[in-house]
Amino acid sequence: MKIELSDKLKSFKPFLFEELYRKERAERAKGKDIISLAVGDPDIPTDRRIVSDAAKELKNGRNHRYPNTKGNENLRKEISAWHKRRHGLAFHPNDEVSVLIGSKEGIAHLPFTVMNPGDYCLVPDPTYPTYRTGVVLSGGRIHDVALEEKNGFLPDLGKIPRKVVARTKLFFLNYPNNPTGAGATLDFYRDLVKWARKNSVIIAQDAAYCEIYFGKPAPSLLEVPGARDVAVEFYSSSKTYCMAGWRVGWVVGNSKLVCALNQLKENIDSGPFNAIQNAVAYALKNHEKIVPPIRAHFKRRADSFCAALHESGWKFPDPKGSCFVWARPPAKRDSLDAIMFMLEKASILAAPGSGFGRCGEGYVRFSLTEPDAKLAEAARRIKALNWQ
Ligand SMILES: Cc1ncc(COP(=O)(O)O)c(C=O)c1O
Repeated sequence: MKIELSDKLKSFKPFLFEELYRKERAERAKGKDIISLAVGDPDIPTDRRIVSDAAKELKNGRNHRYPNTKGNENLRKEISAWHKRRHGLAFHPNDEVSVLIGSKEGIAHLPFTVMNPGDYCLVPDPTYPTYRTGVVLSGGRIHDVALEEKNGFLPDLGKIPRKVVARTKLFFLNYPNNPTGAGATLDFYRDLVKWARKNSVIIAQDAAYCEIYFGKPAPSLLEVPGARDVAVEFYSSSKTYCMAGWRVGWVVGNSKLVCALNQLKENIDSGPFNAIQNAVAYALKNHEKIVPPIRAHFKRRADSFCAALHESGWKFPDPKGSCFVWARPPAKRDSLDAIMFMLEKASILAAPGSGFGRCGEGYVRFSLTEPDAKLAEAARRIKALNWQ
């Protein structure tokens, strides 16, 4: 029998990062000493105190049973307590907090809870690709919203066509931003919430990098009065605690949306392993001891890598947060040309800006998630490149 895959599946391009992993493997197979700065997968090991806590939880038989889809009470309470300390916001652990199998999972599922065929979802351009997934699968339409350097990579809400706004259900945003490294201010969030309430648009703000900030602490959109009427925010243990492989994220905010997402997920998954959920609860409880050194580490990396790029003639605003540098090469090149040139001449693999959307053309994204010595070697190789 010839297995015919669905039209929806066929409409998906391979996930950008999978393509980059393939390219890296192929170059290594040729014997090249490749430094890959293409994917944002933190190299810093999870804090040993979290690992010890997880080892203890692993031995507890109570954790071996099915978890609860929306997350166990221990973790939901710790999430709630952390948001109170960090943002001064009280989320009820029962209906304003839900645990996810990584924030990617919740981001991909959210559109199914609100989008009907033909509805629009606004997606930033450049973007983290998963914002598009659920929209495509739920039959929604995507309107790309340009993030331009001249606007600090914030969207210009006035430029979104009125006809699109009238049919828009959902708007994905992400600050501190992947891929641009831009940050958002509370003033921007105030304008956004006002606009969203006026136009009945749901905001899904992805705060995966909220703890990797290099100046003032990144604000939460939900700090804006009235934001909870229209918004949810996604959080992740992956970058905050360098726990990418453990697969735990969460969503907070509007209870109708949080409960709807949970209702959908009850029909799909059963949540992450309880031992791991409890280890994330431990991380949240000890956040103030664990996170500052991680943040300082990424800041040191960003400072020295950006200095090397500036010296070599790259053009870019320094990142306000995240673990990425988003920059234009010293000579005008298409993104793909630029990364192929670096791969060939310097054995460095970076991510092409065009892979994140049309507005990413001309940019290259460097991820600072490799060990310091490798980043220093990459900086040395980049400085030695002749772009003329
Ligand atoms: C902007 C953004 N959001 C969400 C995620 C997914 O994170 P998680 O590991 O929580 O699924 C990533 C991962 O790279 C990301 O870059």
